[in-house]
This record gives sequence, structure tokens and C-alpha cells, in this order.
Amino acid sequence: SVYGFSGLRGSEDVFGIIGSPIGHSKSPEYHNRQFREHGIPGVYLPFLVNDLEDFFILAETLTIRGLSVTVPHKQTIFPYLDSMDESVQAIGACNTILREPRGWRGTNTDAPGFLAPIASRLDRNVGSALVVGAGGAARACVYALVTRGISVHIVNRTRRRAEELVKTLKAYVPRGTELAITDEPEGLEAQLVVQTTSLGMSPRINEDPLPGYAFRKGQVVYDIIYSPAKTRFLQRAEKAGCEVINGWPMFIGQAAIQSRLFMNQLSGNR
Ligand code: ATR
Repeated sequence: SVYGFSGLRGSEDVFGIIGSPIGHSKSPEYHNRQFREHGIPGVYLPFLVNDLEDFFILAETLTIRGLSVTVPHKQTIFPYLDSMDESVQAIGACNTILREPRGWRGTNTDAPGFLAPIASRLDRNVGSALVVGAGGAARACVYALVTRGISVHIVNRTRRRAEELVKTLKAYVPRGTELAITDEPEGLEAQLVVQTTSLGMSPRINEDPLPGYAFRKGQVVYDIIYSPAKTRFLQRAEKAGCEVINGWPMFIGQAAIQSRLFMNQLSGNR
């Protein structure tokens, strides 16, 4: 079997991933296995897409029911959406689209996927978090945290970029929750530290985005990188007595949420 499925009957509902490049994506194998395990007659295909306009003509012909969206289309797909969830608007990126009677709805499973591995801790004792980085990944994490009522301080190499992030997300921060920038993360009381930059990712495994930061015993330290399994940043945190989480459960979490959305498509509106 290729991509985790074998043979088409012609009656399957079609899903897939659009992006470029797409050859190394693990998504087809994951989603086809989910369909199989749940006895769902769906098929999930990799589509190498450079031109979105052409692709959406094809998508109508194939009656595609849902798609994962990856690089370089997460931000450029907006003109093709007929509606979008608040998360997509806030994060400015869309990683999932679902076919509805009136057209395509965009959603983003990165934010709930990010929360999945820390959900039980958030219910207990996380009042405030320190987030390292202010790029696209940071936006999903910060949106997820503040909408759960967790106050966030952001530290970033380029302060202006952090200011832009705060400005964009301010509208989604509930009353009583704080979203601010910090230049001195040491002085903060943060039960959770989240690392969202690409520093420390393979092959540049020796890099640390906040080398001077002294972790405190008992902090939960979450690096959204999963390769390597333990970045330099996480290694330092572990040595200091912190509980560490890498990016793998987030990756699986967002895929699992996406899979549920796809399967709902088949039990619901046809
Ligand atoms: P992504 O979408 O993966 O988050 P991005 O939008 O390019 O990627 O954001 C990358 C993040 O990593 C930013 O916070 C960036 O800091 P700047 O805003 O100062 O650029 C951070 N980053 C990248 N390289 C860095 C480096 N060498 N030192 C410190 N931070 C770095």
C-alpha cells in the first residue's frame, strides 16, 4: 500500500493535504489509518499544489470533503474561504478546510493541538506563561493560552515583532487576562514556559533561544520542536528540575483533532 491505503472503489469520500513540497508528509499515512481503524470509507491523498486557483477547480470535480493545508498555502488560502473560525482570523493562518454546503470553512487545529498535552495542568495551576518567540507558531500558542484565560508574557529577539503579535491578539484576550511583552523574563512568575522559535531544531541542535534564562524547579517547560526529541532548551530545563514536554504530542494532537473534523464531515452534512 502507498500512503497507507490500497485500491479505490470509487465510492470513497476524498480528503487530502495540499502543499508544496508534499512528498515527505506523514499526514496521508496517519489519516488513512484513522479512517481504516474507524471503518470510515474515506481516502486521504497528497496533492502537490502550487496554484490554488487551479486546484480549487479540481476540488469541485472530485467533491473533496476536507483538506489539510500546509506550506506555502496557510496564509494565501484566505481568498478561497467562504467562512472561517475565530482562530483562523486571530492566528492569521489556516491549516484545515472543510467543505460545507455553502462553501469552504477554514479552521486551525494548531491551537487546540497545542493545548492537548497541557490541558490537565491548565485546569490545575497555571496562572501565567512565558512564551519565547513571536512568529507564526507563537501566534497559535499565544491565542490558545489567552483564550483559556492564561496570562502571557512574550520574549522575542525583535521587540517590534512581539509588539505586532500583541496588537493582533489583543482583541481576543478576555478581561482579567494579561498579554504583554517582557525584556526581563527572569523576574517573572511563570508556571509554564513555551518555546516556539525554530532554534534548536535539527540540524541546528546546539542553539538555544534564551541561553541566559534560569529555569525554576517545578516549572512546566514546553518546546514545540519534536526533532530532536529534546532540544538544548529542554535539556537545560530538565536538569533544573522542570517537567518537560516536546512538540510530538502537539503534532499528534492537532492531527487527531483534524481527523475527528474529517470524520464528522461524513456523519453530518452530505
Ligand atoms: P514560525 O512560523 O515557525 O514561527 P517565523 O514566523 O519566522 O517562523 O518566526 C520565527 C521565530 O523564531 C521568531 O520569533 C524569530 O525571532 P525574530 O522575530 O527576532 O526574528 C525567532 N528566531 C529565529 N531565528 C532566531 C535567532 N537566531 N535568534 C533568536 N530568535 C530567532
